[in-house]
Amino acid sequence: MRTIVAGNWKMNKDRTAVMAMIASLRNVTIPKDVEVIIAPAFPFLAQAVEAVEGTAIRIASQNCHEAASGAFTGEVSAGMLKSIGVNACIVGHSERRQFFNETDAAIASKITALLEHGITPIYCCGELKEERLANTHAEVITRQMKTALGALDNEALGRLVIAYEPVWAIGTGLTATAAQAQEVHALIRSLLRTHDERIAETIPVLYGGSCKPDNAAELFANPDVNGGLIGGAALDAGQFSELIRIAGKVNT
Ligand code: 13P
Repeated sequence: MRTIVAGNWKMNKDRTAVMAMIASLRNVTIPKDVEVIIAPAFPFLAQAVEAVEGTAIRIASQNCHEAASGAFTGEVSAGMLKSIGVNACIVGHSERRQFFNETDAAIASKITALLEHGITPIYCCGELKEERLANTHAEVITRQMKTALGALDNEALGRLVIAYEPVWAIGTGLTATAAQAQEVHALIRSLLRTHDERIAETIPVLYGGSCKPDNAAELFANPDVNGGLIGGAALDAGQFSELIRIAGKVNT
């Protein structure tokens, strides 16, 4: 299984900063079996795709609209992303669910649209702090996984990347312990197995939520954690490069 280090830059970095970061990352040696993905904001995607040419770095967008085209002011379709060479897209991030009222049903449609265009969906799920405190996180994750992925066939499922991002750990400095992460990742894997035993073993399940160089080795070492979806630490070339190096040690 490959280990993925994906940087979600959220609404950070202008054009100069995006290009400077890519220039730094071009010098980083990507270890065998490690995949590096970065997700700049929409205006810089086309230029980012060109800037990573000749490297193994892939460019993802942070969102897309589920419709193919039409009167949806301010939105961007999967086909538009494909036309500029974007080949992965974060979907269902908790910030989109929380601040933009994205529903599991809309997220399921986005996944379908992305797969139709050969774009890898990076599907995010994760419980709120209250849900963790009430010990209902397993139910929440099960519901999110079933609603968004329930209708997919095995071939479609096999093209996904999943990210478990406990909302209480995002941007808070609180990280799930390695055991908490492994427990939920194992649940996600078991839910994937109910679709197909063999394909479930090939789907990367990333951890996200205050993942940084000083906790990544412990998190990535878990059997069902296949890398990270990184926010804050992905904005810094030094920290992100260190995460890539740490990911390279997982399979050695
Ligand atoms: P932080 O790493 O800043 O907690 O963000 C995680 C995240 O939301 C990645 O999508």
